[in-house]
Amino acid sequence: MSLRFVAAFALCLSALPCVFESRPSAAADEGLRTLAAAVGLPIGTALAPGGLDDDAYMDLAARHFSILVPEYGLYMSQLQPAPGVWDFGDADAVAAFAAEHVQMLRGHALIWGLPIGARNPFGGWRPTPGWVHESELSRSEAIAVMKRQIETVMARYRGQARDWIVVNEALGSHDVDGVRLSPTIWLETIGPDYIALAFEHARQVDPSVRLILNDYGADYLGQHGGSDRVDDYYDLLAYLLAAGAPIDGVGFQFHLSVEYDAPTVAQIADNMARYQALGLSTHITELDVRIPAPVTDAKLRKQEELYETVLHAVIQSGVADVTLWGFTDRYSWIVTGETFENYPVGTLLDSELAPHPAFAAVRNLFERHSK
Ligand code: XIL
Repeated sequence: MSLRFVAAFALCLSALPCVFESRPSAAADEGLRTLAAAVGLPIGTALAPGGLDDDAYMDLAARHFSILVPEYGLYMSQLQPAPGVWDFGDADAVAAFAAEHVQMLRGHALIWGLPIGARNPFGGWRPTPGWVHESELSRSEAIAVMKRQIETVMARYRGQARDWIVVNEALGSHDVDGVRLSPTIWLETIGPDYIALAFEHARQVDPSVRLILNDYGADYLGQHGGSDRVDDYYDLLAYLLAAGAPIDGVGFQFHLSVEYDAPTVAQIADNMARYQALGLSTHITELDVRIPAPVTDAKLRKQEELYETVLHAVIQSGVADVTLWGFTDRYSWIVTGETFENYPVGTLLDSELAPHPAFAAVRNLFERHSK
């Protein structure tokens, strides 16, 4: 046995990953943001507030991503827990980190209400604070509350956040004026024009930023066996644009699961194309791919294929940017939140920050397509 080999083996025992570790290390290799930049794609992540003091996590967030989204930090229930009482702590921390690491800040999301009367998927947590639900606001009061939220938050990050998700998850199953809306507190208090009013106000506050409508379950043609949401979302955008709402971009969340999602590149690209034909920029805003227990090699392989398919479609179809809804299972809402039960995997890195096979697949895909 050569001396060199013995030395390498000793090093290997003391410091992993090492020459014998076949999986790439997320901490050592070139960052995804660099590889994605070579294909002309900004790549982002939601940043979990629980990770702000976790150096290894924050180092990876800086190394791999060129867009940061405060995961909780910008929801109204965090920012304005009581009328006129503001708490920008987490959001400011993410904004400062993004500035330091030359990352774009995505504003997510100004106005978002859960469907009233439906099961709360977040264990009781709501994006709109309790006082908005409990104050029995008149239409004009609710409009004033909504406008104040928009102008206060946009003003704070003026010049830094270049795009904003103005309204999140407006789509639902309530037929209103020929479109299908979610019965949120905003629909209930203001009426169906709350969406256009929110965008108009955001435009007035800062005409220079990109304004985005964002939703889930409308990501690709034929999703969930051809669910209505896919076309309902398109109809909603077309209706809002025809009504003159100043919407610049459309967001697709892409919360996928190895259990039932198997879109083709064409199904994604064709969906993007019809929004682009309306003049909208398209954004993948919350990509993750979850795996139910038990985690098997076959399921990890499927996860890998799903990330690959989505990112391949993104590159091919001129999607403006892609944001992952977290990059490690350590903080992912899939694994640690109350929405999903018994999904040990939802992102590219495991809870120890070691890569799942999908991580290498994403890297390779960017490398293959680099210009
Ligand atoms: C989730 C966060 O990840 C959770 O931590 C929080 O409890 C609830 O919100 N659609 C969205 C995201 O637009 O903001 C949600 O994020 C996931 C679904």
